[in-house]
Amino acid sequence: MKFHYHGHSALSLSDQQSEIVFDPFFTGNPSASGLPDDLKPRTILLTHGHEDHVGDTEALAKRADATVVAVYELAGHLEKKGLKTIGCGLGGRVKHDWGWSKMVPAFHSSSYEGQYMGMPAGIVVDFAGVRVYNTGDTCVFGDMKLIAELYQPEVLILPVGGHFTMDVYEAKKAIGLVGAKTVIPVHYNTWPPLAIDIDAFKAEVEKAQPEVTVHALKPGEVLELSPARA
Ligand code: NI
Ligand code: MN
Repeated sequence: MKFHYHGHSALSLSDQQSEIVFDPFFTGNPSASGLPDDLKPRTILLTHGHEDHVGDTEALAKRADATVVAVYELAGHLEKKGLKTIGCGLGGRVKHDWGWSKMVPAFHSSSYEGQYMGMPAGIVVDFAGVRVYNTGDTCVFGDMKLIAELYQPEVLILPVGGHFTMDVYEAKKAIGLVGAKTVIPVHYNTWPPLAIDIDAFKAEVEKAQPEVTVHALKPGEVLELSPARA
């Protein structure tokens, strides 16, 4: 399966059968050059209702006839715009033809177009036999260990830019709590407040935790992983 990084927190996962996308923020994303024509996800997964995560969801969902999975309030708001949605709560598992998704806690906020959008979330997916934990925008918290114990993620996607989310100091701790060997940092270097030295972060993490590989993908870069349990 492939992880295609679009910059900021936008990532699509694909195999020969399916494609899904997390937080499709393209328009206004300094790391992306508009919504790519070849992106045709079956499912759009939203961690929370902020502009840099909801992004191009409406246009993309309509174009690709995709279903949007989000926390109940955000899903309901998008359904009023004519989108196909599945609204769920933290802890609820949703089955898809490509696997399943589950919303898990995140410490952040969630509002969109001036309205409260329910809880922010992290999302665990089982896609093509690979378990992925996308923490969403959050600080580090101790129950990341519980989430890892329950779902044994092989891949961890987490923000590292600080200011709105955890910074590199907290991210190192989060990586230790989750224990996934493959780490994809997101939500950094998009704007000046999120500026970090990603090479130094990668070097420090891999020195302290040699079993971990940090894949600091450049916007547009694709990481290919073979499913451990396929
Ligand atoms: Ni946010
Ligand atoms: Mn954000």
